[in-house]
Amino acid sequence: MVTIKSEREIKLMREACKVVAQVYDKLEKVIKPGMTTYELDQIAENEMRKLGAIPAEKGYNPGIKGVPPYPATLCVSINDEVIHGVPSKHKVIKEGDIVSVDTVALKDGYNGDAARTFAVGKIPKETQRLLDVTKQAFFEGIKYAKVGYRVGDISHAIGEYVRSQGYSVVREFQGHGIGKEMHEDPGIPNYGKAGRGLRLEPGMTLAIEPMVIAGKPNILELEDGWTIITEDGSLAAHYENTILITKNEPEILTLL
Ligand code: MF3
Ligand code: CO
Repeated sequence: MVTIKSEREIKLMREACKVVAQVYDKLEKVIKPGMTTYELDQIAENEMRKLGAIPAEKGYNPGIKGVPPYPATLCVSINDEVIHGVPSKHKVIKEGDIVSVDTVALKDGYNGDAARTFAVGKIPKETQRLLDVTKQAFFEGIKYAKVGYRVGDISHAIGEYVRSQGYSVVREFQGHGIGKEMHEDPGIPNYGKAGRGLRLEPGMTLAIEPMVIAGKPNILELEDGWTIITEDGSLAAHYENTILITKNEPEILTLL
């Protein structure tokens, strides 16, 4: 169901989203080589709870037979891992890694969702370009996050920009509406046809999230039922914000 948020709900969305932004502010400062992804997850969980929110990914049930509820506050996906990497005491972050983090805060009944890809220490120029293109793809998309456009305009802008830069978008996962539920309608693919899909209206809150692969678009799912990796072993990056559609420019809720 597509929900239009009232003024009261928009205030609550802003609060939940601000928590996510503050968690990333913290993670950016503490992420270091030698740290495990479990330690990073613990820091995020403490920070989120301190800010009065609940880690919404923890216990999230995908409703797929045989797949356990998600066990952590963060998804932490390193290098050729695309999304949904499960934090582990055995997974150590190394100098030169790119680390994609995705988290959702639930505060006063509303969800805020964002993802960032961090470079740990020095990374090659081409890897930095992947990170820059992934972030820019989000900003290319939200040029169309306005009344008068449709979901397909956002999708098309993201997909065409990424393609123009020589990279691939992931086709099996997409952005989404967000509010009381982490995932609401509409689905927002990172590729598509301009001029198609739902018309955008003020009060819609949307999570726009380009997932970009340096090589071929194909992905694989690991045995854990969660971790998604690139089939060809190439690097992947993720950048996501929750935004609000207004009468004018969109408001990015998960940036400070
Ligand atoms: N935060 C993810 C998204 O962007 C969802 C992750 S699935 C979970 O939609 F199980 F980790 F919650
Ligand atoms: Co999302």
